[in-house]
Amino acid sequence: MSKKFLGILLATAMVAGTLVGCGSTATTETAAPAASTETAAPAADAAADTAAPAADAVGAGQKVGVAMPTKDLQRWNQDGANMESELKAAGYEVDLQYASNDVSTQVSQIENMINGGCSVLVIASIDGDSLGTVLASAKEKNIPVIAYDRLIMNTDAVSYYATFDNYMVGTKQGEYIRDELDLDNAEGPFNIELTTGDPGDNNAKFFFNGAMDVLNPYIDAGKLVVKSGQTDFATVATANWASDAAQSRAENIVSSNYADGSNIDAWMCSNDSTAQGVVAALDANYSGEWPIITGQDCDIVSVKNMIAGKQAMSIFKDTRTLASQVVKMVGQILAGQDVEVNDTATYDNGTGVIPSYLCEPVFADINNYKELLIDSGYYTEDQLQ
Ligand code: BGC
Repeated sequence: MSKKFLGILLATAMVAGTLVGCGSTATTETAAPAASTETAAPAADAAADTAAPAADAVGAGQKVGVAMPTKDLQRWNQDGANMESELKAAGYEVDLQYASNDVSTQVSQIENMINGGCSVLVIASIDGDSLGTVLASAKEKNIPVIAYDRLIMNTDAVSYYATFDNYMVGTKQGEYIRDELDLDNAEGPFNIELTTGDPGDNNAKFFFNGAMDVLNPYIDAGKLVVKSGQTDFATVATANWASDAAQSRAENIVSSNYADGSNIDAWMCSNDSTAQGVVAALDANYSGEWPIITGQDCDIVSVKNMIAGKQAMSIFKDTRTLASQVVKMVGQILAGQDVEVNDTATYDNGTGVIPSYLCEPVFADINNYKELLIDSGYYTEDQLQ
């Protein structure tokens, strides 16, 4: 990568970092055993503070394994690309793999990373509960593991977790609905339906609980009515976060509950892929007033839907910010330094609390998307046409 391009990349990442910051009240944790110790400056400092490739980064030349769940969703392509370019800029070799949302493929990719000499593993899991065995062998070989975006459950091989504040994602979605429907003042009642994500993704419960903690008091008070009666996590979950699964469930809900012409006022969707499924279902089968639909990720398709008035909001999680933070953690681990974290209470993976770094999500809607997404260089105007 040219210095100029890297400079632009880092400059936009830093601009975005001021918009979607990772928490500033970071504490530090002692690093997991370093796979290698050299004495040059940490890779992350070079990547974060200057535009120059960090040829002298600690651990430069070592290999970092990056396991991503799927190429099907835009966000993971961005996460993988950001991680790869930032790690390479910091001087590391990178083994980046996508697993087509197939757990056994991801397990064998991780096995290959362990046997192929990776010094650190960065893993966005497909199913948080399915990596215990393969990660036991990483632990045996003293290879530190960073859980990326999604917590890996029930294994003591996970050293750190870096993500966005998942509960806050949900509360922002719930608050958006509360404020747009003016639930504290308007008479109501309003109809709402709910769609969340994959039960094997630990994040999904955080998103759902965050939103429901805002919405439940209004449901209990009768101001929000879920006509389908479907309110528990298992029923409103969407396997693999798949748009077509969200779509067919939404079609059933519409035909069973709204064929009488009653309006759906809001549809809480935990992310953009599920929101897109709900939009498709409503486009085909619903003739009432268009509901407020929430989402998450600011996928291009969903931002276009936002511009077209079909999805009211999305949550912007700047994947550049998360990637920069994780590259910094990799550098700190390889240097045997304290690893920067800002949460040591929230994310228990069944073996204890995993020291975490939580970045802050923000909501995007028609009023602020230009500033968040275009001015920060995340998308060009053309991409959203
Ligand atoms: C991520 C979301 C994403 C979802 C589906 C979650 O773990 O945090 O950003 O929309 O997975 O891929």
